[in-house]
Amino acid sequence: MAFATRQLVRAASTAAAKKLVVKQVTVIGGGLMGAGIAQVAAATGHTVILVDQTDEILNKSKKGIEESLKKLTKKKFADKPEEGAQYIEKVLKNLTTSTDPVSVVHSTDLVVEAIVENIAVKNELFKTLDKFAPEHTIFASNTSSLPITDMANATTRQDRFGGLHFFNPVPLMKLVEVVKAPMTSQKTLESLMDFSRALGKTPIACKDTPGFVVNRLLVPYLMEALRLFERGDASKEDIDVAMKLGAGYPMGPFELLDYVGLDTTKYIIDGWHSLESDNPLFAPSQMLNKLVEEKKLGRKTGEGFYKHK
Ligand SMILES: NC(=O)c1ccc[n+]([C@@H]2O[C@H](COP(=O)([O-])OP(=O)(O)OC[C@H]3O[C@@H](n4cnc5c(N)ncnc54)[C@H](O)[C@@H]3O)[C@@H](O)[C@H]2O)c1
Repeated sequence: MAFATRQLVRAASTAAAKKLVVKQVTVIGGGLMGAGIAQVAAATGHTVILVDQTDEILNKSKKGIEESLKKLTKKKFADKPEEGAQYIEKVLKNLTTSTDPVSVVHSTDLVVEAIVENIAVKNELFKTLDKFAPEHTIFASNTSSLPITDMANATTRQDRFGGLHFFNPVPLMKLVEVVKAPMTSQKTLESLMDFSRALGKTPIACKDTPGFVVNRLLVPYLMEALRLFERGDASKEDIDVAMKLGAGYPMGPFELLDYVGLDTTKYIIDGWHSLESDNPLFAPSQMLNKLVEEKKLGRKTGEGFYKHK
């Protein structure tokens, strides 16, 4: 082997050796996303502690995880239901719950935060946990729209802080956006990429910019579809058909808006509009605002652009 090649191989293996192999994970927030992340981490052999504010919420999260695992194993172990039951038992053994994050982070390798989308609440949580988590522990946020840099700056471990943006539903969606803030170290980025792969996901790396990759492209597209409809250029049904048959998208933009929740899209676009009010892609939509005001939020309320039973 040539000297230069040997040097490169040695450098690569030293970098790899330095990466953190995540074994213990604390997931904070047992809602839609947190429960999904905890489930996938437990199913891939990690020791997981799921944290939320009350035992009642946590019991609901655990029930949801069990239901989801049952659905998934029904397909996987179609002819061997006993093996399926054993598998679920094994996964659930990897998962415990707590209402006190401070008392459980002392032995964790990674904290994944999936609580309410509010920067003050997230910063407060990270600031507190920073005092109790070990030196090596990486902190990550699953935020969809808030700056990772702000949260990292609430701690003293800016180099061990990054974004881990999962997609809903977590057990099914393959992508994780791994977000590198300016102070995130290469080692942290690579450790988070490896953790995502260990979950069976496909990670992509991106910088800490509004919407990361997927939402930065997707939300302006949804808003453009709304504007097309508002101008009367085409009906919402025809726009949906057009994007499914002409672009090969599995859902049309109005079907997707209903699926995601109209309030979520409004929240994101309002945030970006306040940051860049001159950007026409981030302009608010009166139609969207009106529907949200009327609590027509999509599938979750039974009506959005369409009626849902
Ligand atoms: N819903 C999505 O499609 C989606 C997708 C990607 C990322 N996200 C992000 O994931 C995060 C969570 O979203 P969600 O949809 O799971 O919300 P959710 O409302 O379903 O769950 C949030 C959970 O956090 C808990 N919580 C709130 N404050 C807490 C605190 N201080 N300590 C412990 N627990 C606390 C709540 O009790 C609730 O159970 C948000 O940052 C959101 O932007 C959401």
